[in-house]
Amino acid sequence: MSEGKNVVVTGAAGGIGRATCERLAAAGWQVLAVDHDAGKLAWTQGLANVVALAADVSSEADNQRIAAEAETRFGGVRAAIFNAGIGGGGSIDGLPFAQFQRILGVNLVGPVLGIRALLPLLRRAGGGAIAVTSSTMGVGGEAENWAYSMTKHALIGLVQSLSREIGWEGIRINALCPGPTRTAIAGMEGQDGVAEADLPPHYHSLKRQVPLQRWADPDEMASVLEFLVSPASSYVNGHALVADGGAVV
Ligand code: NAI
Repeated sequence: MSEGKNVVVTGAAGGIGRATCERLAAAGWQVLAVDHDAGKLAWTQGLANVVALAADVSSEADNQRIAAEAETRFGGVRAAIFNAGIGGGGSIDGLPFAQFQRILGVNLVGPVLGIRALLPLLRRAGGGAIAVTSSTMGVGGEAENWAYSMTKHALIGLVQSLSREIGWEGIRINALCPGPTRTAIAGMEGQDGVAEADLPPHYHSLKRQVPLQRWADPDEMASVLEFLVSPASSYVNGHALVADGGAVV
């Protein structure tokens, strides 16, 4: 790796993003941990190879700032993980238009802007790897979750198209499609350490649909994201990797 192991991770204050940063840092990567929730990036304090950056992934200017920070701090980038995301259920008649636009902005426009901002750095590094966090909702659908689901489907289209567009430059791009994972977006904030029987009803109903009969821990998604940006997946490109305990939506 000509530019070293430098990686940008968005959504780094959340469950999967933080676990991914911690995993990559432990594996010797220099990590730029990006989230719009600056307060929740406090976990990065005191860690030698993790730099926190408050930025809104839906903003073009902020994505330029992310690229500039990676350049200043690390001298370049070898991998990027576009993982920030928001939910937002609502019927086709009922979901407020502004909320629909916000879901598009964060989940879909965000990764596009991020890729456009960081591609020059990946090219200068002589190649690298990009991963985006889609969802099982990116390969299936759910009533009253159409806006979220369409952004996650679109990410897979982005991955399949860009893998054909930039693969010749030695830049791979893949998607992770997580199943139910114990984080805030899935309504599991503050549930760490809570006895299984006391977890909310939706935990139990979803769990029953998973052959492994449990939700994932964030680190089980982090390990897949680490794989997708590491040389261990050097011939994996344009792929959407479903990690859902066998549920297959
Ligand atoms: P989370 O809610 O813990 O983390 C999401 C993070 O994204 C938060 O820290 C939030 O502050 C950040 N974020 C939101 N809007 C942002 C913006 N405009 N700019 C920068 N950061 C922003 O949830 P989780 O599970 O860690 O989510 C990570 C990804 O995994 C998301 O893309 C989500 O859609 C996806 N996913 C999660 C599943 C689950 O069951 N937890 C299932 C399938 C996909």
